[in-house]
Amino acid sequence: MLIGLILILLCNKEVRSKDLVTIHFIKSFVIKEHKPTYFISYGLCWKRNQNLKLLNELSNAGIRSIFSTHISNYQGHETMFLLDLDCPWPEKLYSNGSASNLFGFPYHWLVLNSLEDKSNILSDVPLSPGSDFVLASRENDTFTLDELHKTSPIGEVLSNSRGYYNGTYFDIRPHKELFRRRQNIMGHPLTMANVIQDSNSTQFHLEDRLEAQHDATAKISWMVVKLAFQMLNATPRYIFSHRWGYKQNGSWSGMIDDILNNKADLGRMMLWVIFTALMALYAAYSANIVVLLQAPSNAVRSLTQLSQSKLTLAANDVDYNHFVFGMYSDAVRVEISKRVKPSHGKAHFYEIKEGVEKIRQGLFAFHSIVEPVYRLVEQTFLEMEKCDLVEVDFMMGFDPFVPVKKDSPYLELLRVSFKRIRESGLQSAINKRMQVPKPKCSHRISAFSSVGILDLRPVLALMLYGIAVSLVILLIEMINFKMYVII
Ligand SMILES: *[C@@H]1O[C@H](CO)[C@@H](O)[C@H](O)[C@H]1NC(C)=O
Ligand SMILES: *[C@@H]1O[C@H](CO)[C@@H](O)[C@H](O)[C@H]1NC(C)=O
Ligand SMILES: *[C@@H]1O[C@H](CO)[C@@H](O)[C@H](O)[C@H]1NC(C)=O
Ligand SMILES: *[C@@H]1O[C@H](CO)[C@@H](O)[C@H](O)[C@H]1NC(C)=O
Ligand SMILES: *[C@@H]1O[C@H](CO)[C@@H](O)[C@H](O)[C@H]1NC(C)=O
Repeated sequence: MLIGLILILLCNKEVRSKDLVTIHFIKSFVIKEHKPTYFISYGLCWKRNQNLKLLNELSNAGIRSIFSTHISNYQGHETMFLLDLDCPWPEKLYSNGSASNLFGFPYHWLVLNSLEDKSNILSDVPLSPGSDFVLASRENDTFTLDELHKTSPIGEVLSNSRGYYNGTYFDIRPHKELFRRRQNIMGHPLTMANVIQDSNSTQFHLEDRLEAQHDATAKISWMVVKLAFQMLNATPRYIFSHRWGYKQNGSWSGMIDDILNNKADLGRMMLWVIFTALMALYAAYSANIVVLLQAPSNAVRSLTQLSQSKLTLAANDVDYNHFVFGMYSDAVRVEISKRVKPSHGKAHFYEIKEGVEKIRQGLFAFHSIVEPVYRLVEQTFLEMEKCDLVEVDFMMGFDPFVPVKKDSPYLELLRVSFKRIRESGLQSAINKRMQVPKPKCSHRISAFSSVGILDLRPVLALMLYGIAVSLVILLIEMINFKMYVII
């Protein structure tokens, strides 16, 4: 009976007392981060006046803060959460799927710890390579700070010194940038998904520059992603698919389906492996219409002009093109789509060789990724036939970075890696090596253009006026002559 009562008393005694040292430490830590911060104390069990004191100190320092008892979806990189391991651990914190993302980039965590070892609690926290999770352990009036992360979600917790506080906060990180502290993921496997459409042997010639006419985009992406994986010290793994994949009747096809299936096959283990979808859909979508006119081609420079022209509109016969022309609802694109895929009669889809030959013959617009078209143009066109090639962008796609799974724990690391690859010029070097630029024609005047009788109308009219005027002059001269003769 007595023991029961004492237990109840102990259980109720959740309210902890925290002194000014802790509160001052929190404040110095947040200030020293030098970042705009939205401070959220989560599930604190401190005494009421200490909560108020903390709020007060933070607001004096110009930091917004709230107390919260439940996690909702907070937005953005300004958010810093405070937890106290002396308070009851909020079990539900990461059992909730949406809340577990809060332990990754871009959120910040400050977790207070007293002397006892609490590492067993923390081994379950869903940390990732992008986590900014600081454990502040107190001994007497000193805090020692360690930052914890995992190179892979199933890996062990890694700890690095972050700094200490003995009245003043000292930050001892070697680099302030998260990327530079985390860029070694220690051989964790990352998988990239490649789409090869032109030839099945592409996967054996990804880097040797043989069969250059096939799948240039896939090869470029492969090289760039491999570089990024090397920068992160990841172990590369590959998937090859033959189609990009679209959602039809609620289920996916192609690469996306492969990814989903592979995930299911390898069960849980693979759930953790990220899928870097190689340039996926967007690269295909940024395809262009290539137009060739056999006359000076200023007439067609825009989509509107293209839709009003009398050209034959056609597209490369690959899976994404069948999909692309159903995607738009604006009048101009609908008109163009109708002319490529008329409701009656045969749709204009051609193999790339046939399409390029029709471009050469003229009055023909062909929707395709430009690169393979230009490669064939260089091989099959006469010099003067290259002069009037016009590119019109149909999809208004953007030049993509590499797509990465949306909630991937490696998102931030890959983002920085790809930017480095691009900014260092490696990306454009690879592009130049693998892609054929737009063909240039060396002598523009040689383009032959036939002229119809209607084009000559002003000239003919001028001649007629001239003849009429000369007749009048003749008449005047004759009259003049006669008058002299009469006189
Ligand atoms: C779990 O997530 C849902 C939304 O996904 C949210 O409504 C709920 O409050 C969360 N529960 C906790 C305990 O955070
Ligand atoms: C903390 O205080 C105790 C008792 O005063 C002392 O024995 C211990 O050495 C102190 N620890 C540190 C790190 O100063
Ligand atoms: C805190 O540590 C620094 C450097 O280690 C030292 O110079 C300073 O005197 C210490 N402050 C206190 C109050 O112990
Ligand atoms: C490549 O192989 C797959 C399956 O073996 C097949 O479906 C696809 O049509 C082939 N692609 C080419 C371009 O030969
Ligand atoms: C989607 O469903 C419709 C009607 O149920 C069917 O006609 C069509 O063939 C299906 N498409 C695919 C790709 O399964």
